[in-house]
Formats: sequence, C-alpha cells, structure tokens
Amino acid sequence: MKNIVGQAVRGKDFWDRKSELAKIWQAIENGTHPLLVAPRRVGKTSIMYKILDEPKDDYAIVYVNTESAYSANEFWHKLFNALMDEEFNNKNAAKFKNFCAKLKTFNIESISISGSIKLGDAKELNYAEAFETLIKDIESDKKLIIMMDEFAQTIENIVKYSTIQEAELLLAIHRTLRQNPKIASKISFVYAGSIGLESVVERFNAIKFINDLNAIKITPLSHSEAKAFVCELCQFIQDEDITYLLEKIEWLIPFYIQLIIQELNTLYVEKALHVIQKEDIDEAILRAIECNHYFDHWRKRIQIAFEPNEFKFAKDLLNILSEHSTLESKEYINLGVKHSLAEDEARKIVHALVYDGYINNNENPKIYRFNSPILKLWWYKNVAN
Ligand SMILES: Nc1ncnc2c1ncn2[C@@H]1O[C@H](COP(=O)(O)OP(=O)(O)O)[C@@H](O)[C@H]1O
Ligand SMILES: [Mg+2]
Repeated sequence: MKNIVGQAVRGKDFWDRKSELAKIWQAIENGTHPLLVAPRRVGKTSIMYKILDEPKDDYAIVYVNTESAYSANEFWHKLFNALMDEEFNNKNAAKFKNFCAKLKTFNIESISISGSIKLGDAKELNYAEAFETLIKDIESDKKLIIMMDEFAQTIENIVKYSTIQEAELLLAIHRTLRQNPKIASKISFVYAGSIGLESVVERFNAIKFINDLNAIKITPLSHSEAKAFVCELCQFIQDEDITYLLEKIEWLIPFYIQLIIQELNTLYVEKALHVIQKEDIDEAILRAIECNHYFDHWRKRIQIAFEPNEFKFAKDLLNILSEHSTLESKEYINLGVKHSLAEDEARKIVHALVYDGYINNNENPKIYRFNSPILKLWWYKNVAN
C-alpha cells in the first residue's frame, strides 16, 4: 500500500472501509438512494471507486463527477456521456445487453438548451423521458447504480451561474425519477459531495426535493482502525508514539494521517532517524501546515460560497475558534449582529460550516470547535494572523 496524499485512491492503495461499504450496499439493496455525507477529503470518492471497481453481481456502475457542470444541461451532458463511455459499455455489455444496445442509439450531441435529447430514431424527448426510455431496456433482475460525485457543487454552481429555478427543476426531476417505481426498481442514484447538499439546498428552501434520500455519513476512522492504518503505512514508529500521533491528529480521516506520515517519512530520511519520536511528530505537523495547497481550499471555499458579509462573519468566527478553541451559540449570534446578519442567517451559515466539515458541536450542542486541530493550527497561522 502506497502512502497517497491528495488524490482519491484505488486498488491496493485503498484502506478497506468495510462498514461504510456495507452501509452503502445495504441502502442500495433496500431500494433507497444514498446521499454520501462527508466533508472534503474524508474519502468519498475513494469509496465510490471501490464500488465501481468491485461491483456486486448483477449491478452495473456508472461514476460521474459533475463538479464542473454549471447548468442543468451540462449536468445531463456529463451523465449521458458517462453512460456512453466505452469502458462502461465494454464492462457491462454482456450483463446489460439491451441497455447497452439502446445507449448506442442515443445521439448525445443533440442535448438541447431547452432540455431535450434527440434519439437516434429522431424522436425528441426531455431528459426525464429519455431516461425512462433507456431504463426500460434494463433487464429487471439487474440494477444500474449511478454515482454522482460533487452533485451538491453542481447545484450550487447552477444557483450561482444560472438560476435558482433551474437548480430546483433539476432537483425536482431527480426526485420524480426516484419516485417512479419503474425507475427506482432498476436504478439506484448515489449522490455525493464535499459540500453538504442539505446546507446548499437549505439556503434556498429546497429541502423538500431531497428529503427522501438515505443520508449515509462517511465517518473518520476509529482509533483502532487508524492505529492499524498507521502501522501499515509506517514501520518505524512505536506504539506509544502512534497514540501520541493520533491524539494530535484527533479528526482521524485517512488524509491527515497520510499527510503527517508523508512528512515523517521525509524527516526520517533527512535526519537519518532510527525511530520516530514525539518531537519528530510535532515537527512533521508544523511542516505539514506549511503546505498551503492542502489547506487553502478551506479558506477559498467560504469566500466563494457566501455573500461578502456572510464570508466576513464565517471568517471571524473561525478566526476566534482558531485562537480560543471554543465558541458558544450566543456568541456567534452576537457576532452575526456585528455583520448585519439576523439570527436565522447566522445559524444557516454555522450549519453550513458544520456540514462542510470545518466545525462541530458534538460534545455540547451549544459549543462549537474545529473538527481538526491541524486545520485549526493552519487557520490560526495563515488566516487569522
Ligand atoms: N480508503 C482510503 N484508503 C487510503 N487513503 C484514503 C482512503 N480514503 C481517503 N484516503 C485519503 O484521503 C484523500 C482524499 O480521499 P478522497 O476519496 O478524494 O476524499 P473525498 O472524495 O471525500 O474528498 C486521498 O488522497 C487519500 O490520501
Ligand atoms: Mg471527492
């Protein structure tokens, strides 16, 4: 297993996430449509690749990342393209004969701005109809899983660069498709995104379009899993120092573990160490937070997503947390007032920060803190000061 830092992992580099995979498969087999919920870098894409690479029998999997879709049309274009992809077709041609044959008759170039798609036989259908026509050709004992990565980003893009109505319509079409028994028996839609879909749609009161989804939280590793993961990646660190390392990382997502191990590996070679000690771990963490490219998206994200006064509020709140560690609900409401935000507006932004993985109030509903001490340290050094 290689220590990959940053890119979604695949094959031998994937650290098994048995319980997350089991939960997702169970949701699919129960006929529900999963929404994978986890902030950036928790491992959603890697898990979806695992499903793509090792599907259960009688399932065909399509994976599509729609992050760069800025309109509903671009979304559909990407989805139909993914369905027509040669690799998908080669892999599934035997299992889904009729379906793959039907796909070949689609003329993807003709997805129109008005939202219709022209079939090979010159019939013009809207997307939902085109889907239904296609799905009819799946043999009923087989199922198609369509995994849409960064779907929430797509919705946010459409709200920002097209209209709220267009985003609502796309969400409504998806809901209609999911609620059509003929379709739902043959397809499972899996939605994922590093920004919370709930928090994106909450901002324009569209929760009703997604409240049928089966939200599955992708959680950090447990302490024992994280320990085993460290042992797999780094052979020259002793037991008690692993405990120290994990205490420092606290939010035990594979990414932070790999990032610090990468720095430890460099130190090991640079200083010709025989064994890693606590001070090396401290140094590795300090070195890791020098790597701005791993962290800067956390700052940019709130700048892009929020209105200017909302951004200033969110930034102030995180600045305070990076210095004082905790903040009570009543204090953030006061901070909102300073930025001309009503209590409700301030609350929505705090919710978004929780959904998107910046902060949590797990220990006490009234008290917020950073999820990751490493991000907190980076924020303190690079944003707050
Ligand atoms: N199951 C896993 N095994 C090994 N590394 C992982 C795993 N999941 C996540 N990672 C690490 O986290 C990083 C981000 O993973 P990714 O799947 O892209 O997360 P997400 O899609 O949630 O942003 C990867 O580069 C890798 O370092
Ligand atoms: Mg991802």
